Amino acid sequence: MNELQKKILALKKERDCLILAHYYQPLEIQDVADAVGDSFALAKRAQSASQRGIIMCGVRFMAESAKILNPGKTVWLPAEDAGCPMADTIVPADVLALKKQYPEAAVVCYVNSTAAVKAVSDVCCTSSSAETVVRSLPNRQILFVPDKNLGAYIAKQLPDKEVILYDGCCPIHDGVSLQQAEAAKRAHPEAKLLVHPECRKEVVALADYVGSTAGILETARKDPAGSFIIGTENGVTDILARELPLSHIYALKPDFICPDMKKTTLEDVLACFEGRRTPIELPQAELDGARKSLERMIAVQ
Ligand code: 13P
Ligand code: SF4
Repeated sequence: MNELQKKILALKKERDCLILAHYYQPLEIQDVADAVGDSFALAKRAQSASQRGIIMCGVRFMAESAKILNPGKTVWLPAEDAGCPMADTIVPADVLALKKQYPEAAVVCYVNSTAAVKAVSDVCCTSSSAETVVRSLPNRQILFVPDKNLGAYIAKQLPDKEVILYDGCCPIHDGVSLQQAEAAKRAHPEAKLLVHPECRKEVVALADYVGSTAGILETARKDPAGSFIIGTENGVTDILARELPLSHIYALKPDFICPDMKKTTLEDVLACFEGRRTPIELPQAELDGARKSLERMIAVQ
């Protein structure tokens, strides 16, 4: 622990704050967090937080979800310009136009979206909850927004549903080509390929396991002497490399990095305690509408 980390640990106690961090965050940030998790776990942890404040080390939609699920708390996003490019591929008007076109469909909205888009959707999902959420819906037709790759993966798992896809994706995961995945497998033929469902379907088709960041970590942890190619952002690779010294952990590609997730610094976290960051605020209609969609997701899990 360095001096700044010790200072943050003392401040979070003194100010009654919960620090949450996503698995893609730099390790020095994860090390000062009370809990590290995937999007689903972080949303649930924020919902049940009893502390006065929540510092969400991640990207904006994660901090917004924390505020929506626990509106009485003061919620900070330490790196205020950390967004998710996938969330910015869709606006409420796009959802409303699709709803008109497919009036029978239920709108399932990936949490990697703005509060305004969640507010006009029927239910949210994360990568770890998407299959359960879609299966739980009585509608045969599902409008899945905004991630076409996760949507296509769920459609394959649930052939009874007609899944209508929106043309959005994560540039980081969708940026992995079939050739890169094949090259990684050729370089490490003994290793199992574990991929996030935000990857393209041809990459997902090569995988030994497909799941959320938490699912990928759990799979590798079950075999601490195993060999794994990690098909998601390198934060997950870094956690496993540090935690499992006897295993062989390979990044699918060296630059598998989400620049927004890597924006958070310890200085940013300190800034939240020192009044140098603006707490998350959302219009009441977005808070209320998005809460319904997020709470439905949590209720079916
Ligand atoms: P998880 O919910 O699997 O942690 O994914 C979040 C994310 O942003 C993936 O790119
Ligand atoms: Fe968004 Fe992709 Fe970064 Fe996840 S990895 S936060 S989906 S841009």
